[in-house]
Parts: sequence; structure tokens; C-alpha cells
Amino acid sequence: MTESLVADTPINLLDLVDDGPRPDAAPGIRPRRVYIETYGCQMNVADSELMAGILTRQGYDAATGPEDADVILINTCAVRERAEERVLGRAATLNGHKKERPDVLLGICGCMAEHLRETIHERAPFVDLIIGPDAYRRLPALIEQAAGAEEHELAIDVRLDKAETYEGLTPLRRDGVNGWITIQRGCDKFCTFCIVPFTRGRERGVPPREILRQARELVAQGARSVTLLGQTVNSYRYEDVDFADLLRAVAQVEGVERIRFTSPYPVDFTPKLIEVMASEPRVCPYIHLPVQSGSDRMLKEMRRGHTIAEYRQLVADLRAAIPNLALSTDIIVGFPGETDEDYQRTVELIEEIRYDFAYLFKYSERSGTYAHKKLPDDVPEAVKGSRLSRLIEIQEAICLEKTTPYVGRIVQVLIAGESRKSEHDWVGKTDTFKTTIMPKVPGSEVGQIVSVQVEEVTSHTLKGHIVTRDESITS
Ligand code: SAH
Ligand code: F3S
Repeated sequence: MTESLVADTPINLLDLVDDGPRPDAAPGIRPRRVYIETYGCQMNVADSELMAGILTRQGYDAATGPEDADVILINTCAVRERAEERVLGRAATLNGHKKERPDVLLGICGCMAEHLRETIHERAPFVDLIIGPDAYRRLPALIEQAAGAEEHELAIDVRLDKAETYEGLTPLRRDGVNGWITIQRGCDKFCTFCIVPFTRGRERGVPPREILRQARELVAQGARSVTLLGQTVNSYRYEDVDFADLLRAVAQVEGVERIRFTSPYPVDFTPKLIEVMASEPRVCPYIHLPVQSGSDRMLKEMRRGHTIAEYRQLVADLRAAIPNLALSTDIIVGFPGETDEDYQRTVELIEEIRYDFAYLFKYSERSGTYAHKKLPDDVPEAVKGSRLSRLIEIQEAICLEKTTPYVGRIVQVLIAGESRKSEHDWVGKTDTFKTTIMPKVPGSEVGQIVSVQVEEVTSHTLKGHIVTRDESITS
């Protein structure tokens, strides 16, 4: 069980290298090398791919690591304070490269650049670039500006732009069978604890034509599974196209074998969307459905816009319509004013719903939010800690309970690559998003969907062997 949505493993731009033509590259100029390190949610991973796409078209190459990069960019998360602290520590370490090679430029991009735009330069004076999530089109110009600047002169662009959807730009994607498409940017919900509406600005949908173009492009690059991304992905709208329409349209794209989306907002589930999920076989029976708390009082203070009874009804409707549905959630413990009784409601909720897994967080006060201004962060750290550990323990047992019935079953696994632990094994996902490990067999390869007989499980992983492979998937 992971305790947080925040990725601990930075993603190296090296994984994104492609050798395709770069028509805009100025002839004769040695391309500069860029290294992008990514923290935070899936959308940040997608944004780093977008930045990599923009920069390679301008003639940049991927560095093998920070040590041979001319430009080092850290794409950051501001959701919790710890994520920010970690990035500041990492920036200080990366500053070592600037000391050795004074021409190196170091940039902070994304949510933290937006959130700490006024103080970041004080806290990390060696930073040359501060770039908010809506300024990536201007990245090459900002790098030029910083490269020409006097020492310690900053290139900064943290303007939020409610029209920016990055239409027409092609991200430089990691090779692989799993691709993601950002279909919506920003968030309009203003949950009282959350910094995202302030760092990512107002909600806007990417035009459907752009999403379909990217889906086709992903398939052409070898993707078999597509994940649609948005902060409240199911509130997506573009003119008269809603999320259910869009999901149906992406499912029609030839070569897309699986579709997922993250994260939906409970209030924005419509009967039409449930119907599309139920009737469209390529949409995976898996939903990440953040609930945040099991207490109605807390949900109200958080301004989530629904009660537990309504959430419970939604889960019942989804489970009735979609057989074998896997569910995960996000929960915050220690929100201002959370009593033992409120917390107990959360315990009861996870015991009742029985999520396949859950991302569990301690409340972290974020400056600028409603909670920061109006609701004192009054749950002692030790209480937050003990509430979190108990929840992890309970959820961990439920996770094992959810994987155990898989033993003996045959599941359909999309092979994503070689297992990290053994070159003899594949790793992949079931349609319910369970990680599955199985020995390689002759003829099996990345991108195939194979039938796997499950032999043993842990709380988060299935292990088994391939019984057949679906020839129709391979070419
Ligand atoms: N709608 C977004 C939510 C982004 S934040 C999505 O795509 O999932 C992801 C999760 O971080 C939230 O669901 C919430 O559980 C947690 N979170 C957000 N702000 C937080 C805070 N101030 N303290 C602790 N956890 C927080
Ligand atoms: Fe944050 Fe709530 Fe939007 S959690 S991203 S304000 S839906």
C-alpha cells in the first residue's frame, strides 16, 4: 500500500528519447541537453512529456542524467507540504551541477512553481527558471531568457491561462503499452483543503478532435491502453460533448484495447456515463473514486458536494451496472476539526465499501486555501499519525481480501514489460488494474493481452502463468 499519490521515483526524460525528426531544430546549432525530473500525479508525468515534446522540437536532446544536462527541470507537486520540502531538498542537490558547470540552468516547473512563486527564489536562490503549468509553450523562450540573464536573474512565467489546453502540441511519450492523454486542465471544485484550483487554474476541456488525434498517435506508437486524465475528469465538457460521449468516442479508436480514466468526481457521475462504462467492453472495470472522509460533517467542511449516503448509492449503482468492478479511493485523516467519531466513520466506510486499494494522506495545510484561512489545523500530528497507521493496517488487510479470490482464476493481462525483479518474468495489469507477474513463455511479448492462470497473491500483486495468448492483439 502506498501512503501517497506522490510518486517517489522521479521519471527521467531519458525514457522519453525518440530519434524522430525535429523539423524546427535550427540547423548547425548543437542541441542542448535537457533533463526533466517529475514528481506528483499522473498529470505531471503527462506534462513532462508535453515539455519534452516542446523542447525536442526546438532541437533539444535528452540528457542521460543531470550530470550531462545543460537544462535541468523539476516538475513539481504542491498538494502536500512534504512533497514541496522534498523538491526543495532535491533542487539543492541538483544545484551541485551548477556549481561544477556554471552555465547549467535549473528550473522549477508545475504546481509548486505556481504555489511558491513569491518565496521560491528566497528558499532556492540558485533557481533560474520558475514556470507554471500554463506556461509550457513559452518554455524555449524562457530558457533563452534565463541563459542570457545576469547571474541570479530569474526567468519566471506563472500566468494562468484559462484558454490554454496545449492543443496541437505532441508530447514526447515514453515507449510503452500504456499511454495517457490529458483531456481536461485545471479544477473548479475548490475543495477547502486543496491547492490544485490555485496552482492549475480554471477547468477547461481539451477539444475532442485533439484527444482523438492523440489517441490515434498513441496507438501508432504501440500503446494498447489509454488513460484519460483530468482533476475531475468526468466533469469534462467541450461544447456539446460530455465525458460519456468522449469515452465512447475514444473506445472506437482502432487499436485502443483498454481505456481508463482518473480521477472522477463523485458528484459528476451520470447515469449516461455508467451506461457507457457498462456497455463498452474496452472501458476497464476499474474506478478511482476519491471520497476523502466517511463523515458527513467532514465532507461538508471539505465542500465535496455530496453526503456519504449519496456516495454509497453511487457505489451501489456502479457495482450493479459493472460486474467485477474494482474500486480505489483517496482519504485524508486529520482534517481540521476531525474528532475520533468522524474518524470512526471513515474506518466504517472503508470496511463497508472494501476498496481494492486506497491512497491515504494526513491532512497538510496549504496556504491560500479556504481551510488554511478559516479552519485551524487542530488535529495534533501524533493523532494524525496514529489515525493514518490504523487506516493503513485495516486497508492492507482488505487489499489482501480483495486479491485472494483471484487464486485459481484466469485473468486477462496486458503485458507492459519485464518484471523489475527478474528478466525471466513479465509484468502487466489485469483490466481491474491488478499488477500481475508471470514467467515469459516463447512467443509472448510486450503489448499482448494474455490469459493468465493466477496461482498465488499478495495484497497488491497476482502471480501466475500464461495459459494462452490472444493472437488478435499481435501483428
Ligand atoms: N481531483 C484530483 C485530486 C488531486 S489531489 C485527482 O485527480 O485525483 C489528490 C489527492 O490528494 C486528493 O484526492 C486528496 O485526497 C489529497 N489531498 C489534496 N489536498 C490535500 C491536503 N491539503 N492534505 C492532504 N491531502 C490532500
Ligand atoms: Fe482538489 Fe477537489 Fe479539485 S481535491 S483537484 S479541488 S476536486
